[in-house]
Amino acid sequence: KTDENDDLYEAHELMAKFYRHLLLNTEEGNEALRYLHERGFTEEDIDRFQIGWALPQPEFALNILKKRGFSIERMELAGLLIKNDETGRYFDRFRGRVMFPLHDQKGRVAGFSGRDLHNGQPKYLNSPETPIFHKSSLLYHFNAARTAIKKQKQFILFEGFADVIAAVRAGFDQSVAVMGTALTEEHIRQLKRVSDQAIICYDGDNAGLNAAYKAANMLASHDISVKVTVLPEQLDPDEFIKQKGADAFSAYVKDSSLTFMAFQMDYLKRGKNMRDDEQKFQYIEEVLAEIAGLKKAVERDHYLRRLADEFSLSLQALQEQEKTLFLKKR
Ligand code: UTP
Ligand code: MN
Ligand code: MN
Ligand code: MN
Ligand code: MN
Repeated sequence: KTDENDDLYEAHELMAKFYRHLLLNTEEGNEALRYLHERGFTEEDIDRFQIGWALPQPEFALNILKKRGFSIERMELAGLLIKNDETGRYFDRFRGRVMFPLHDQKGRVAGFSGRDLHNGQPKYLNSPETPIFHKSSLLYHFNAARTAIKKQKQFILFEGFADVIAAVRAGFDQSVAVMGTALTEEHIRQLKRVSDQAIICYDGDNAGLNAAYKAANMLASHDISVKVTVLPEQLDPDEFIKQKGADAFSAYVKDSSLTFMAFQMDYLKRGKNMRDDEQKFQYIEEVLAEIAGLKKAVERDHYLRRLADEFSLSLQALQEQEKTLFLKKR
């Protein structure tokens, strides 16, 4: 079956092969290979995720694509080439970067993200929006993870693909990542077709926590049951795995992931001084509003008790206040 964009996919597949070859088999790829090894990427990772290296030369892809008979205008549309408007000449978008192919839902290479070795800007250069690549709907590793997601009845959502690669190495094949963007309705639609249970494992920094809070709320509003793994010491998952090892990560995800409500109870505390009565009551009010939204009475009871214990309040008072919010919600 042919598709009007077959040439764009073919060009990506072809370039992915060349980039891989350059990384693995050439002198020019040595520095990048060393970089990957130092970061903890194994041969198997490089193989599985088809990681490669784009030469610094500006006309490497250009020449290959020309020689293979691809239309240069179409390759510009594909985001592989850029046209210099002054000279009218074309050159490669990806130069001197570690190349991560981005596979779409069907497993076809639809774009690339290229990492600078020396933290130059941008750290990751991505394909632009093209007929076959949409950053806000692509989930990294989704096609490859689908079977594992079904089997584990759960997906783990990360912010970045270095995290996915490390997590897969640690045994979590059900891992996917947004491309550093906010989770979208389109992402959720794809995920929900495969599983309705999520673990969110974003970076342990402030940005990651805020993004996790938003993503958790979105998933929950689509009736997906959510757990959140908050990593210690502001680590991101790939740093955690590198520092503490795969077994520690595995144990942390399994034992220390929070339920959505427990996560919210922690999250809503941020920036509030619990010794200030006004802020404390505001916090309690916010948590009660969330508890009131829980469908199961047993769960509501559980978190009310937790709140009562934490602030030495009577369960009865909390129940009473929760009930008024509960009635308002339904
Ligand atoms: P991070 O800054 O957390 O990167 O952005 P990372 O995944 O930890 O990458 P390493 O470990 O430094 O190599 C998370 C995600 O945001 C997107 C990428 O998809 C990245 O995986 N991002 C980040 C970009 O698209 N461009 C950037 O310049 C930075
Ligand atoms: Mn699309
Ligand atoms: Mn981050
Ligand atoms: Mn990160
Ligand atoms: Mn990282």
